[in-house]
Amino acid sequence: GASVEVDISKLEPGQKITIEWRGKPVWVVKRTPEMLALLPKNDPKLADPTSIVDHQPQYCHNATRSIKPEIWVAVGVCTHLGCSPTFRPDLAPADLGADWVGGFYCPCHGSKFDLAGRVFLGVPAPTNLIIPEHKYLSDTRLLVG
Ligand code: FES
Repeated sequence: GASVEVDISKLEPGQKITIEWRGKPVWVVKRTPEMLALLPKNDPKLADPTSIVDHQPQYCHNATRSIKPEIWVAVGVCTHLGCSPTFRPDLAPADLGADWVGGFYCPCHGSKFDLAGRVFLGVPAPTNLIIPEHKYLSDTRLLVG
């Protein structure tokens, strides 16, 4: 399938943009240092903290599931039944509870993922979100696919 070029020059820390690739939403998130610092704290609460399931290219098989720590690219489709989770970077929001640490919430059946797309234990989604093949054409241009 065709690759899609993404301009990330205007992406602000803490922000997510969505592009379309092969008919699916693909997210690009610029994580803040605070967001990155929270990731390892989630490990005990995750189903697959080290991403053993092969849902990412080898170059994203690391603690942040990304090429550059701050920029995270993922297919925005829940690994349960295919809804698109919502971006909920806020900490302890009223509707998700005090233990919510920021991530993605799937409204269909309540699956929860952290800001590296790693699935929390005890939700219907069986695996982490999928990271598509991608590379940097420059500091501000990404090629997805
Ligand atoms: Fe996301 Fe079921 S489709 S929880």
